[in-house]
This record gives sequence, C-alpha cells and structure tokens, in this order.
Amino acid sequence: MLANYHSAFLKYLDSQLPNDPPKGLYEPVEYIMQLGGKRIRPILALLSAEAVSGNYKDALAVSMAVETFHNFSLVHDDIMDEAPLRRTQPTVHEKWDINTGILSGDVMLVMAYQYLTNYPAPLSVALSMLFSETARKVCEGQQYDMEFPNQKDVTESEYLHMICYKTAVLLGCSLQMGAMVGGLSREESQVFYDFGIELGLAFQLQDDYLDAFGDPKTFGKQVGGDIIENKKTLLYLLAKEGANEAQKDQLNSLFHSQTQNTSDKIEIVKSLFVATKADQKIQERIAQYTQKALEKVNGFPISDEKKNEFRTFANALMERKL
Ligand code: IPE
Ligand code: IPE
Ligand code: MG
Ligand code: MG
Ligand code: MG
Repeated sequence: MLANYHSAFLKYLDSQLPNDPPKGLYEPVEYIMQLGGKRIRPILALLSAEAVSGNYKDALAVSMAVETFHNFSLVHDDIMDEAPLRRTQPTVHEKWDINTGILSGDVMLVMAYQYLTNYPAPLSVALSMLFSETARKVCEGQQYDMEFPNQKDVTESEYLHMICYKTAVLLGCSLQMGAMVGGLSREESQVFYDFGIELGLAFQLQDDYLDAFGDPKTFGKQVGGDIIENKKTLLYLLAKEGANEAQKDQLNSLFHSQTQNTSDKIEIVKSLFVATKADQKIQERIAQYTQKALEKVNGFPISDEKKNEFRTFANALMERKL
C-alpha cells in the first residue's frame, strides 16, 4: 500500500516540475527532486488524507509542497554542512556552485508555497499558516544545529529541541496537512502532528546514528560527516555521559579540532561511541520514541484497520538503513 502512495507521488511529481528557462535555475531543481530519496513526508501526507477521507489524491499538492520544501532545506543544508554527497550523488553546490545552490533552493521554497494555492480558501489559508509556522521552526532548529559545534555545553534537552524543530515538525506538518485536506480541522488533526513529532525524533536519532555507523555503500551521504563538522549529536552527549575522565578529555579535544586527517578522527570517535555504549543507548532511545509515536496512533479518529498502516510505517522507519 505504501508503494502505491510512493508511485502516485512520483507520477504527480513528474507532471509538476517546471520545464522552463533559465536552465541554470531549474535544472538543479529537477536534479535534486529526481535524485530520489525515501519520500517519507509526501507519503505521510497521502497516508493521513486517505485515512481521514479515503481520497489520498486530494493531498497530492500538499505532498508536493512538503517534498519541495524538504529538498530546498537539503540544498541549503548541504552548503551549510559542506556535504559532498546526497543520495549517493554530488550535492547541488558540488555539481554546480554555491550561488546555484542558494538560488535554486530559494525558488523551491517559493514553489512549495505555490502548491498550497491549489486549495480553496479557507483551507488554503489554514494550510499556509501551519506550513509557515513549521518553516520558521525548521530555520530555528537549523540555526541551533549550526551554533552547537561552537557552544561549550549542549544539554540533552537543548539537543532534543533542536532536532524537534529542524526535522520532526516537518513530519508532523506533513501528516497534519494531509488530515486537514481530508476534512479535519486544525484542532481535530493535532494528534497527527503529535505522532509526527515522536516519529520525527526517532527518525533524526536514526539519521545521527547512520551518519556515524551507516554503510557507506548504501547510506548515500558521507559517513562521518557529523563527526567532521563537530556536531553535538545525542551520540556525542551519551558518549560523554558514559565516558571516564580520559575518554572525556579525548572527546572534548576531538570535538574542538578542525583536523586535516578526518578518517583517523572518524575512526577514533566511533570507537569512543562504542566503548561508552552510546551506540547501544541511542538505539534504545529510537525504540522509545517509536513507541511513543505508536501510542499516538491509538488516538487517531480513524478505523483500526487504517491505524495499522501508520504502525507499519513507524516500525519500518526504525529499521531503516538509509
Ligand atoms: C534527510 O532527510 C534530512 C533529515 C531530516 C534527516 P531524509 O532522510 O528524509 O532524506 P531523503 O529525502 O530520504 O533523501
Ligand atoms: C537536516 O539535518 C535538517 C534540515 C535540512 C533542516 P542533517 O544535516 O542531519 O541532514 P542530513 O544528514 O544532511 O541529511
Ligand atoms: Mg546535513
Ligand atoms: Mg545539517
Ligand atoms: Mg544528518
């Protein structure tokens, strides 16, 4: 069933991408949007619309809005994170240049809003309000993400707030907008958003785990990128918590350096994550947030049969390798 939503989205995507000049603006848009990816956000939007009204097709424009916004955020994120690879291919700023990444990203943000004008008022207004609140939170989360490497002590709750904003709110928004297109009010659809938050936290923790421990052949991004950039992920915070004095000193000095020999640094940091059991503890957290997400599903105002699709999705996401 999820494969159906995936292919419905891809078909719609094909029909919607601009084929206009100037090429320098739109080719990178087409490139990043067609590079694939898991399409989690559009699938969630279609899933919740179908669960509420039985008409997932009504949410195709919303699914384009969230996927286009997501891709905009990735193009800019890859500039900010100095990332060479995305979905196994060169990032937009590597294939073209930074200015191209900035402007093609910008136009995707505008396009995302335009897809929402497909709906009549007052629905379009309600969708735009939720979308704008979400988009601001994503920027706020991204800003904290950029500040943390230079911040002396990052607490676990600061980290969780950061990933909630940079990642989880867009999953929540995708689900809630789908439910609103299905006919629920903002209030009635809140539980879909809440599910997306818990799911999104688990999802970003898994992203952080895979960034260090993923298989370079399948992960699609540069493995160890977060370590190179001194990102204070939960893996790092848990490692510091479980470290002895010598290990703590080592972590501190490694995460304050801009070393040239990045592959040595990655290997040492990963071995510290393992020695302090941070790699195991983060898996427990991922399972806990997935469990919290599953509890939210119980409260969805839909049939039991439909609830199972969300449960399947949440469990599959926890097992992902890319
Ligand atoms: C990557 O998102 C950025 C994060 C919020 C972790 P995805 O892992 O959904 O990326 P794609 O779209 O599947 O490539
Ligand atoms: C991305 O977080 C969040 C946003 C794009 C707002 P990451 O920096 O962890 O995403 P990846 O790992 O590059 O996909
Ligand atoms: Mg990144
Ligand atoms: Mg980033
Ligand atoms: Mg990441």
